[in-house]
Amino acid sequence: MKYNEMILTAEESAILEGGQGETMRKALESIIKYGQTFGAKKLVPIDHPVHLVTSFGIPMLKPVFSMMDQLIESGLKTEHPFTVDPRPMDFGNVKCSLIEKLVFRKIMYGAQETYEGQLKKVGLAGDDAFTCTCYMDEVGNIPQKGQNLAWAESSAVVYANSVLGARTNRNSGILELLCGIAGRAPVFGFLTDEGRRASWVIEVRTSGRPEAQVLGSAIGMKVMEDVPYIKGLDAFLGTEMSQENRDYLKDMGAATASNGAVGLYHVENLTPEAKDLGVKLIKKDAATYVIDDAELRRIRDGYPVMWKNKSAAPARCFIGCPHLSKRQIHEWLGRIEAELERQGRTRVAVDTVMTAAPQVVEAFKRENGACERLRATGVHLASICPLMYMNNPLCAKKAIITNSNKLRTYSTARYFTDAEIAKIAVKGSIDV
Ligand code: F3S
Repeated sequence: MKYNEMILTAEESAILEGGQGETMRKALESIIKYGQTFGAKKLVPIDHPVHLVTSFGIPMLKPVFSMMDQLIESGLKTEHPFTVDPRPMDFGNVKCSLIEKLVFRKIMYGAQETYEGQLKKVGLAGDDAFTCTCYMDEVGNIPQKGQNLAWAESSAVVYANSVLGARTNRNSGILELLCGIAGRAPVFGFLTDEGRRASWVIEVRTSGRPEAQVLGSAIGMKVMEDVPYIKGLDAFLGTEMSQENRDYLKDMGAATASNGAVGLYHVENLTPEAKDLGVKLIKKDAATYVIDDAELRRIRDGYPVMWKNKSAAPARCFIGCPHLSKRQIHEWLGRIEAELERQGRTRVAVDTVMTAAPQVVEAFKRENGACERLRATGVHLASICPLMYMNNPLCAKKAIITNSNKLRTYSTARYFTDAEIAKIAVKGSIDV
């Protein structure tokens, strides 16, 4: 059957004629209309769990809640259990004043409990399924190379496409859930070979390994939603996809996706498709962007400082947006301990919160001695989304520091490099 310009299979046609009920018909019709907007001519089965971006119960999302009710009443849920972005609150590990708690519980995220109840009924993987790094080994929502997906969280999309070689568009929130319910996604953009080719060549010519978050920021701001093919980074990262490289690419990718709108990049000799196809991935008329030390400095110097008092003492430090891997928690522990020793202190001066997936936090806690060492430094582990925490006038007023270029972009948090963050967190002032 043809629906406008979309060719549908017999099963899809039957669904569209109401064969699986009115709610499923509406879900599929929404996916089709969404796909048609981007020129899709067909749908493709998705054979891997979805990952949802909408993790927060903001009361004003009434249409979402009523749509969820319709899905539940119709007995619809995703074929595979799904993961979802981090929760906005964790009062146990991220200290909040009474007034903040009130604002979070009653105003900002007043529908959190109800919404989480709905998520469970439509296929949520479990109480600990809340993280943006669902692809960590401990979490297990790890797509394989070549698999078609429907994800929406931008940092997870760019990771799945680039580091894992899976295929997902940067879908809109809720549409990814409908794709999971219908088991199909429209074919356009990153689900096509042509859509995965690069229209930019990035030449990295820095004197050392660039700070991942600043390199990603530079690339994102230049190429916006295009696909970059990055040359020269293998000189610093090598050609093996180690956990350290995965972590680097996770952070770099999140910055490309938030400072621009990148959904896929290729790193020469390292990422899966670049290894397979090399320069064949580059379009004939691709533009070139050279990134050297001076360019990274220019990018970094261009970040606006959103604090009212620009020399305020930091009130809080967030590390882990996107969520940290277990290897990164260890790395940060070592970095903080070394800095404490260097400054002759025993505990961090700034309330410092590292964020990671619940399963990653648990795995870290099970390791002998590591958790006690971290606790001794005064650093907390949590599994919230720092951005959701900051997204209100009360918290936005605070002098928050972060090593995340995504958090810097979407909030009033101030960016510092990893090395600077360690020094500031220990000393308690930005004058380091
Ligand atoms: Fe993850 Fe929230 Fe940052 S979803 S990438 S921790 S903004």
